Amino acid sequence: MDALELLLGRESALKLQEPGPGDEALDVIFRSALRAPDHGRLRPWRFVVIPHEKRERFGVLMAESLRLRQPDTTPEMLDRERQKALRAPVIVVVVGRFKPSDKIPAVEQLISAGAAAQNIMLAAHAQGYGAMWRTGEAAYDASIKRALGLELADAIIGFIYIGTRVGGSSPLARPVPEDFVEIWKG
Ligand SMILES: Cc1cc2nc3c(=O)[nH]c(=O)nc-3n(C[C@H](O)[C@H](O)[C@H](O)COP(=O)(O)O)c2cc1C
Repeated sequence: MDALELLLGRESALKLQEPGPGDEALDVIFRSALRAPDHGRLRPWRFVVIPHEKRERFGVLMAESLRLRQPDTTPEMLDRERQKALRAPVIVVVVGRFKPSDKIPAVEQLISAGAAAQNIMLAAHAQGYGAMWRTGEAAYDASIKRALGLELADAIIGFIYIGTRVGGSSPLARPVPEDFVEIWKG
């Protein structure tokens, strides 16, 4: 796929189905992620793959964390939360892991992790897969971090759902440069 076609054509896939990326496609996805700009070469990222066969277990974990956050949650809401893990064949959890540094502030490390996440989106799209970057309260939940083997200080910056897109383009109106770009007049 042409690089500009990729950049100008990427859009989130609200609905995903099988098949998801296999080992080879995931390898390309992660090698792309590791090309993220990274001030000081701190490598402030981790990626946790929720493989197909662990999605049910992950869904249970998501529902359990919701129940702990909101004890009055209805069984229907818990079931909906559990089902979220089944929204795509593969989920990649993108994590910012901050490295102590006098020179590189944490915000720059977080930006680098965000760039890695975007590279994952683009590498998925380039290989013909759809993807959707999501967070929600689970991303900030200590019990989720613990269960994923992360450190409490880690930042889950996204759950990236990857699979085969269902349906065509969304009717989302795209912003235009004129509304965001200005030429500095000095
Ligand atoms: C850090 C981050 C977190 C997001 N979390 C969610 C989310 O939890 N749920 C959601 O519907 N969209 C979420 N989005 C937005 C979608 O990923 C997507 O960008 C948006 O729907 C616009 O679609 P587009 O990517 O086609 O422009 C998030 C985006 C970012 C950058």
